[in-house]
Amino acid sequence: MMQASAQAQPNIALVKYWGKRDVAANLPATGSISITLDSLWTRMSVNFGVADDLLIVNGVPADEMLPRVTRCLDSVAGKGRAGARVTSASNFPIAAGLASSASAFAALVVAASDAAGCGHERAELSRLAGRASGSAARSLFDGFVELAITSAGIDVTTLAGPAEWPLQVIVAVTEEAGKAVGSGDAMIRCAQTSPFYQSWVDRQDEDLAAARAAIARRDFAKLGAIAEHNCLKMHSVMWGARPPIVYWTKATLACMETVRGLQDAGHAVFFTIDAGPQVKVVCLPESAEAAQAALASTEGVRKTMQSALGIGARKVTVD
Ligand code: PMV
Repeated sequence: MMQASAQAQPNIALVKYWGKRDVAANLPATGSISITLDSLWTRMSVNFGVADDLLIVNGVPADEMLPRVTRCLDSVAGKGRAGARVTSASNFPIAAGLASSASAFAALVVAASDAAGCGHERAELSRLAGRASGSAARSLFDGFVELAITSAGIDVTTLAGPAEWPLQVIVAVTEEAGKAVGSGDAMIRCAQTSPFYQSWVDRQDEDLAAARAAIARRDFAKLGAIAEHNCLKMHSVMWGARPPIVYWTKATLACMETVRGLQDAGHAVFFTIDAGPQVKVVCLPESAEAAQAALASTEGVRKTMQSALGIGARKVTVD
């Protein structure tokens, strides 16, 4: 068999990965903790046996992404492999800070390994996905996921499964266009120019420990406090870069205000924001409906999407 398909969902970091220990190997500078989503997905099919690699994203050739896909396929199946026709489909906007590269590369390594008959274990697939996109390593795993840095590279594990603490996530989409600065370039610029970068790296273990403890105790208020702090700190590192990197828009700030209003009204909600203007709101199930309604009526919000927590990348059959 030279053809296989896989599905992965994006993950949202609660303690963020922002900065690389080794740019060539794409090794994160610090650990991170995320939640894998359920209802947003990317499906990838890989068919080895064509002359040259070809990538089709949502029905359209995507030549600018092809070199990254080619490198990832080489790392999974070896440089001597056949050319591959790769087709990808997602049910959410790509390249706008919605972690589309995480679900794409997580699905790609699973499909490519299966199509090439490599039989990689999950830990190895996670490492291979992480070489293509640091956050993709986490989308191989279920629920609450920790990526730890070890002397050998990375070690990724599930801290709690999706059913063990069934939170809900509302994504407020404020902009569907691609971002001006990709996360990889932005991280490098921060490391080189932001006066806040080193203290961000130095304090990350504290935030990881706080989030890990909050997850173990199912303490929503503590998890929200550390996640919001870690997110705002990451964006402060970016604002301090030269030239500055500002992913937020008016609508991003309006969504943060909406979340503050929900919190003041007693709802169990908190926000997080990645390398883009979208706002992700994590909530206890009983606050999800109110959070979705409030975000949907916030100025500048184009649409909202809701998701439970889900499982890691896996093989699927695609017609
Ligand atoms: O995996 P990348 O290179 O797209 O970087 C992801 C960076 C953030 O989404 C901002 C944080 C994270 O940990 O996912």
